[in-house]
Amino acid sequence: MERYDWNEGWRFTPNFTEGILDVNYPADALENIRIPHTVKTLPFHYCNEKDYQMISGYRKSFFAPASWQGKHILLTFEAVAHEATVYCNGVDVAHHCGGYTAFTVDLSTHLKYGVDNVIAVKCDSNETINVPPFGYVIDYLTYGGIYRKVTLDIKESIYLRDVFVYATADGNFRLYPSIVGESTGCTLHAEIIAPTGEKYAFKGKADAPLYGYIPNAATWHPEHPNLYALNVKLVRDAIASEPPVAAFTLDEMDINLGFRTIDFRADGLYLNGEKIKIRGLNRHQSFAYQGYAMPDSQQVLDAEILKNELACNAVRTSHYPQSQSFIDACDKLGLLVFTEIPGWQYIGDEDWKDIAIQNCREMVLQYRNHPSIFLWGARINESADDDEFYQKTNDVIRRLDPTRPTGGVRCIKNSNCFEDVYTYNDFSHSGKNAGCVAKRSVTSAPKKGYMVTEYNGHMYPTKTSDDALHRQLHAMRHATVLQGIRAHKDIAGSFGWCMFDYNTHKDFGSGDRICYHGVLDMFRNSKVAAAVYASQKPVEKGAVLELSGIMQSGDYAQLPPELWVFTNADEVRLYRNEKYITSFKPDYNGKYGALEHPPILIDDFVGEQLVTDEGFAPAVAADIKECLNASRIYGMNLPTKIKAKAMKYIMLNQLTMQDLTDLHNKYNGNWGVSAVEYRFEAVAGDKVVANIVQTPVEKVSLSAKVLNPVLTDGPTWDCACVQLKAIDQTGALLHYYDEPVCLTVTGPAKLIGPTIVPMRGGLAGTYVASTGKAGSVTLRCEMAGAPAVEVTIEIKV
Ligand code: GAL
Repeated sequence: MERYDWNEGWRFTPNFTEGILDVNYPADALENIRIPHTVKTLPFHYCNEKDYQMISGYRKSFFAPASWQGKHILLTFEAVAHEATVYCNGVDVAHHCGGYTAFTVDLSTHLKYGVDNVIAVKCDSNETINVPPFGYVIDYLTYGGIYRKVTLDIKESIYLRDVFVYATADGNFRLYPSIVGESTGCTLHAEIIAPTGEKYAFKGKADAPLYGYIPNAATWHPEHPNLYALNVKLVRDAIASEPPVAAFTLDEMDINLGFRTIDFRADGLYLNGEKIKIRGLNRHQSFAYQGYAMPDSQQVLDAEILKNELACNAVRTSHYPQSQSFIDACDKLGLLVFTEIPGWQYIGDEDWKDIAIQNCREMVLQYRNHPSIFLWGARINESADDDEFYQKTNDVIRRLDPTRPTGGVRCIKNSNCFEDVYTYNDFSHSGKNAGCVAKRSVTSAPKKGYMVTEYNGHMYPTKTSDDALHRQLHAMRHATVLQGIRAHKDIAGSFGWCMFDYNTHKDFGSGDRICYHGVLDMFRNSKVAAAVYASQKPVEKGAVLELSGIMQSGDYAQLPPELWVFTNADEVRLYRNEKYITSFKPDYNGKYGALEHPPILIDDFVGEQLVTDEGFAPAVAADIKECLNASRIYGMNLPTKIKAKAMKYIMLNQLTMQDLTDLHNKYNGNWGVSAVEYRFEAVAGDKVVANIVQTPVEKVSLSAKVLNPVLTDGPTWDCACVQLKAIDQTGALLHYYDEPVCLTVTGPAKLIGPTIVPMRGGLAGTYVASTGKAGSVTLRCEMAGAPAVEVTIEIKV
């Protein structure tokens, strides 16, 4: 068997014509493209969904050696958005509906051997086709093109079509092979290599399931995602003829194997017998400019961000199956995955439903070996009940994978539940009420598991450039919902809406074709809300310290709100002009007490200073301190009870109104005084693990961070994600530094998107793509008012 990456040598036309099917077509006139490919790059926002809707054509000519004759020549497209017709030498050889799953075409009977052949793909990316998710409105752009990898496999006449692996936490596993061709005289060999390097070998009949056991298997779990490397070989046995024929391998497959047991119960999810609370986010697979067409490195980066930065233990691939490289990364990093069939609210006619059923089959067959997948989505996201249809989707999924539960995302209560888990989008939190509703008030199936699959999102869109109060309220909403979910012991967990901002249709979002629903922006820069998630990780995995708001009161329309700190440290110490004020600890009985690391309220800016510096008796100091701290939030309108405490001393002639005003100005105000610097110090154990300084800006700098500075060109083009940030002399983000940045690339690479990008909320980003050549690339970033910055990207081929 041989495998070829088939991502190069393609020609593209935005207007498909039958002419391109012809072997003699002058294809040089067509655009030379590399896969992943989008039929149309789009502007950052104010884009138009009509621009990518077309019937385009792809064409590739290649030589089929005579040695391929008699073999199976399998051409696999990992995804073509959204309807593909494949032609081989002018003959229509395959048709595939649905832009989110792979399909394979056996070319063997259509090829001409020993000569040049032509493959062409007619790609329909019109949103009018009768294919899920189309039919009504959709809150995300759907793009178009051959946007995932293409491969060509040359297989023997007998080969492994598939091997389904099921492994449980007790170390048992089963392999179910599916073989094309006559397998008499063949044996299945399985080798399993443990993460420690130990090897185990198993053998069985080629056409029967192979059962085995690994003693003391290290289990797969988000906290320790142990993966075993499984290699399955289909071997033609030796023949004791004269002369004897030695055994040889006909085909083989490599699979990542995880030993884990999933058990959804009425009171939650049990993984390997242990209850685990899901804390995840929804992820679309889109990127600025390119839409879906981004290389593996960017898919992997998203998984890394979810796991390592945002401390999620799960992700929902809303609202369709996503690239294998993303799910592979979830397997490796330890992210549980809830994946679902494509669709958005709308259920179409019988033809449409047949494709949805086919999507169920393809989803399960193509993704069921991933240990990270713990739940199949058997419903069209947020659709109405359709008993016959959903009985069928569940049946099809269970038949192909009896080992995992099904779910199906609803926005309706008490709907008919053919799934194993009632999964519900709970958008009940409005900023003032509880974070979520109780399971019993939603589900028609109280004995089944229950999980919240979306919250927030459109309830409170937030741009990086929004004012401080807005950014804070966005973050607090996420904290409140997470608190609610954790406090309800019978909710298996939740997925927030959503990981990052995304381009959408005219009917949704902020009018500029963006839904600003992310805890990250489109370049994966963090908003304040990201810190709510990030701070939930153990401090050993990276200290987090972020303020909910700013100390500059002038950005608040009225008075500043309560100030919270998102941190995973044990304690936060506050200093004013390097003078220690006081320290704060998480309150496990408080408003956010159910979280592993509850946000910490910073409500004392006075500390003991009224005693130590002003000479007040402790009891008097306590009363005045309460007034001073309250006046930060209430101004002159102090709650009567608190006001009375200060008035008491005025009545007793121990203090004058002027004294109080002076104290307020000294401890709360900063008008006219030389610069006030607040420093927040996070302490874990007895170590200072992070610092934030808030002080007047004196110097503006540009920070450019390349998330993946080493690129590999092959098997597709690659690209680097670069995040840009305007910062002050302490490294703090300058929220309103929205100047343009000029980007210049030197070396064998090109920019994706414009060469001048505006900062948005002090943040921006760009992508630098490889061009097929190795070398060192420099990206120069020039922002008005700051020194230029250069970063280096290495490209390997
Ligand atoms: C949900 C929907 C998501 C997204 C979200 C916005 O209803 O499932 O796709 O539109 O709302 O908050």
